[in-house]
Amino acid sequence: MNSNYTDTAKTYLVTGVAGFIGFFLTKRLLDEGCRVVGIDNMNEYYDVNLKYARLNMLMPYERFTFIKGSIEDKKLLVRLFENHRINIVINLAAQAGVRHSIDNPDVYIQSNIIGFYNILEVCRYHPVEHLVYASSSSVYGANKKVPFEEKDFVDNPVSLYAATKKTNELMAYTYSHLYSIPSSGLRFFTVYGPYGRPDMSYYHFTDRYFRNEPIRIFNNGDIEDDRYRDFTYIDDIIEGIVRVLVNPPAKTNNNAAHRVLNIGGSSPVKLMDFVRALEMALSKALCKEVVFDKIFESIRPGDVRATYASAKLLEETVGYKPLTSLKEGLQRFADWYVWYYDKKPKRAGT
Ligand SMILES: NC(=O)c1ccc[n+]([C@@H]2O[C@H](COP(=O)([O-])OP(=O)(O)OC[C@H]3O[C@@H](n4cnc5c(N)ncnc54)[C@H](O)[C@@H]3O)[C@@H](O)[C@H]2O)c1
Repeated sequence: MNSNYTDTAKTYLVTGVAGFIGFFLTKRLLDEGCRVVGIDNMNEYYDVNLKYARLNMLMPYERFTFIKGSIEDKKLLVRLFENHRINIVINLAAQAGVRHSIDNPDVYIQSNIIGFYNILEVCRYHPVEHLVYASSSSVYGANKKVPFEEKDFVDNPVSLYAATKKTNELMAYTYSHLYSIPSSGLRFFTVYGPYGRPDMSYYHFTDRYFRNEPIRIFNNGDIEDDRYRDFTYIDDIIEGIVRVLVNPPAKTNNNAAHRVLNIGGSSPVKLMDFVRALEMALSKALCKEVVFDKIFESIRPGDVRATYASAKLLEETVGYKPLTSLKEGLQRFADWYVWYYDKKPKRAGT
């Protein structure tokens, strides 16, 4: 069924198609009858089986083409654009994760900077109707003013990951200005849900619980910890993206056809409340009380104190803001996890 936000006559390129967000976006586009070319290098940053599991659900669609390769490979991208008439690009391929960028800076420069530059270059020579790319809430760095608005000053990234995302926004602006490529950068705020990313806290804590290991909470042991995070359920992210896709920014007299938009839940929760909500979701999924064994450690470099999205501009632009509550979203994640990893306690004799 077509939702009026997708166009079955168009071909979409989704990079990072086997990733968490790329998979759900592609599935939505294919379910609505669109043609999608997807590329992913299937790297092993986290359990690659999960990437194959996602991909396996896309392969049966006739209108789906998968290319295993890297956006760092410019020749491959040029060939891809010569072989397929791409109308709309959604660049989600990137090395994600704030902490990983402390010890592994090279891969961030290669994937997020060189890879994105290659995407811009192919769009320059093969004009597209809209280039949509993933930025991140991390660009707000240590911003103290809340909620975070797109017009806020974001020149103080506190991790290399954040710096690459801010750089993407600048590069996209320049290409839009020089070559009239309509482009939208989406600042996602901690996305979670089924088939999510095992490196993210909600998933990682759940893994540790089932391995009988304590979870590590990086808050200097401060029980009154007032740091908070804005979580966004995957379905809300996908709805936001598809609405943005059909809505490219227009070039105005002085400005390039470029914009950035937050997509965030805009109801932040304190870290310990989030941990309790996850315990409750798992308790319900397992029909028994779940309480994590917790170890408190020091706050780590690159961590930000708070994230809190203003959804105002997104709502004004596409008439939508995220709706799913954390309780509801975590329950869907917990139920999925218990099913996917077969963790339901077996009854005696079954
Ligand atoms: N999930 C979040 O909370 C979140 C928050 C802010 C921003 N983002 C951004 O959204 C995008 C998608 O995130 P995700 O959560 O789906 O991450 P993900 O890691 O699940 O997906 C990224 C995919 O890109 C692929 N990839 C990485 N480098 C590549 C390359 N050079 N060439 C081709 N493929 C490559 C990976 O194999 C992976 O499958 C990323 O750009 C990420 O930085 C995500």
